[in-house]
Amino acid sequence: MSEVCVASFAALEEALPVRVTPEGFKKSLVLVRLGEKVYVLDDMCTHAEASLSEGECYEEDLEIECPLHGATFDLSTGEATCLPATAAVQAYKVFLREDEVCIEIPGE
Ligand code: FES
Repeated sequence: MSEVCVASFAALEEALPVRVTPEGFKKSLVLVRLGEKVYVLDDMCTHAEASLSEGECYEEDLEIECPLHGATFDLSTGEATCLPATAAVQAYKVFLREDEVCIEIPGE
């Protein structure tokens, strides 16, 4: 299991999705800060080609909505919670190291 730091916590605005592509990473991630927590998912929707970071975040439901056809995903688990997406996006375990937002890369 390896870890990678993906952003500065202080640079993240509340409930504003941000796309990052960590160096050496093959795909982009979407980061969402809600209060003192940060959620990290794969940025690409599982329905078609759309970037979740361009979608809206629903703080009260802990969900992010795809901007293309409106599927929603659980920010904690990555599960698809509304059609037309049915497959989950990868959700990452997140931890803070001082001001850095870091994730665990599963299977590495
Ligand atoms: S591309 Fe995301 S719901 Fe269709």
